[in-house]
Amino acid sequence: MGTVYEKVQNCLQCIRKKTDFVPKAALVLGSGLGDFADNIRVEAEIGYEEIEGFPVSTVPGHAGKFIFGYLKDVPVVFMKGRVHFYEGYHMEDVVLPVRLMKLMGAGILFLTNASGGVNPSFRAGDLMLLTDHISCFVQNPLIGPNVDELGTRFPDMTAIYDGQLQEIIKRAAKEEGIVLKEGVYLQLSGPSFESPAEVRMARMLGADAVGMSTAVEAIAARHMGMRVCGISCVCNLAAGMTPNPLSHEEVQEAAARAAAPFTSLLIKSISQLWD
Ligand code: HPA
Repeated sequence: MGTVYEKVQNCLQCIRKKTDFVPKAALVLGSGLGDFADNIRVEAEIGYEEIEGFPVSTVPGHAGKFIFGYLKDVPVVFMKGRVHFYEGYHMEDVVLPVRLMKLMGAGILFLTNASGGVNPSFRAGDLMLLTDHISCFVQNPLIGPNVDELGTRFPDMTAIYDGQLQEIIKRAAKEEGIVLKEGVYLQLSGPSFESPAEVRMARMLGADAVGMSTAVEAIAARHMGMRVCGISCVCNLAAGMTPNPLSHEEVQEAAARAAAPFTSLLIKSISQLWD
């Protein structure tokens, strides 16, 4: 398979053979938000395995899909299931879905994830609006020949998370009566959780939450000029902050408990994007 651009264009052609739906906003759903489609007037669904060249999980039944439809009146595409670097994909494949959604037409990207809280004032189940990120512990997704068709070689990252979108989300949280924390998200590769010393390091560096996704997707999206926002479900306090060891089950349970307010916040925010 040829260059990054050829690969993403090829994926786009596969999509266009199945649907001509043009989304205005794209969403990447993190843990716990699997029922989000219940809130959408679904127009089309395309399984990742149907898209030639698309990174598909090798774990049976974990493939995931794009769902296209209307949230209130806003045409959206969202990813049920994302690709993580720790699964062994190349970084260019990790960000391919975001690039693809931009080429489908989406100008706005909502990123969601699960994270561990590093800020001692956070509690499990808190929702945190991303105000900035630290991505330099994982490979930059733009390494390699620049794809000039997508964006410039040295893209500015002064305001990765769009100020206006942050205001819309904060207003939506207030209207829904949802407490919304704010902070800096630090991406690490995973899949092991952090050590307590790494969590102390993250706090010293100015992080409020740590996780294993999102920042690289935000970089690829900004490279293409998308307006980006991100909300994290702080599922646990990070390693060493409580006496308890961490487990994936604990993260999943906390994400499931936060799903209702998280979903309400997303719906309210997206429906107000063009008000
Ligand atoms: N660390 C990294 N990623 C996570 C965590 C964590 O503590 N919780 C949920 N995702």
